[in-house]
Amino acid sequence: MSERSDRFAGIRQEILEGMEKRVESRAAAFELRKQFLDSKTGKIGQMMKEMKNIAPEERASFGKSVNELKEWAQQKFAELDEKMKAKELRLRYELEKIDVTMPAEERETGNLHPVTQIRNQLMDIFVGMGFEVAQTREIEKDYYNFEALNIPKDHPARDMQDTFYLSPEFLLATQTSAAQIHTMEKKKPPIKIVAAPGKVFRSDDDATHSPMFHQMEGLVVDKKITLCDLKGMLDLFVKKIFGEETTTRLRPSYFPFTEPSVEVDVSCYACGGKGCKLCKGTGWIELLGAGIVNNKVLENCGIDSEQYSGLAFGIGLDRTAMLKYGIGNVKLLFESDLRVLSQINDN
Ligand code: DAH
Repeated sequence: MSERSDRFAGIRQEILEGMEKRVESRAAAFELRKQFLDSKTGKIGQMMKEMKNIAPEERASFGKSVNELKEWAQQKFAELDEKMKAKELRLRYELEKIDVTMPAEERETGNLHPVTQIRNQLMDIFVGMGFEVAQTREIEKDYYNFEALNIPKDHPARDMQDTFYLSPEFLLATQTSAAQIHTMEKKKPPIKIVAAPGKVFRSDDDATHSPMFHQMEGLVVDKKITLCDLKGMLDLFVKKIFGEETTTRLRPSYFPFTEPSVEVDVSCYACGGKGCKLCKGTGWIELLGAGIVNNKVLENCGIDSEQYSGLAFGIGLDRTAMLKYGIGNVKLLFESDLRVLSQINDN
């Protein structure tokens, strides 16, 4: 009997010592528990199996003692598990502690590309005057880019724009003016749209020309639209972009899709018109092309040119950005050099 109770006491001792010395985590506690309580390999589990070798009269008291030991061990391990759980939680809190007084890591915020800024500013201005925004396309049919705009196949005006052809029928848009045709095919007058985003392509590459650049097209079609409407609207637009003192002048020009056609200059906002480096001493800077929509273009879209007239304009966004922000080389706009781009933040 006493030999047996020594053995029970020994196991209790072993458990307590094991718990004290070896257990630092829940996983270790679980491992230790297995050594005693696993029903097949655990020391207490195996004692159950000894039962069949024990004299029948002692079996009941042996069984009782083993059960007591098992319950005691289960209780101890449950307590240990709780303790380890709490300890691991404390450790985690310690590890995840953050110092809210620590200065934050500085992060640079980006800004919109200058061309996007100009596009947004123009859209705001024209939407403010009641214009709707239409979409431009990067790939156009020859018909929309040229033919419907009164530039037939062998027209010399095609030389004004070096075209990237994709096939005899399709090409990369050389101008946003195709948006005029798409709009007039879908909508009846009154029409008042600007078209964006305005990516256009020409086989042209130097300090002031990039093979890909941006335009914004404007079109107004209604009864009794005249050049005065155009001038008034453009005056308002340049004041908002270049400053209150800026004015415009119209010079005769030629575009097949407008008649009359004009080139619009702005008074030099750098020298106020006195003449400086920016305006090459003339006091004026060339800004955009515009005009009264050619009757042929209206008729091509099924609009009665006896009843309606229109005005159209095409603004170079890259050119406007270069003028407004004093950028001398168009390449600077497309090289993604943050030293340049981060200086221009108007929005
Ligand atoms: N599409 C012309 C160009 O790319 C610009 C232009 C001129 C647009 C006159 C117009 C316009 O709408 O009326 O050179």
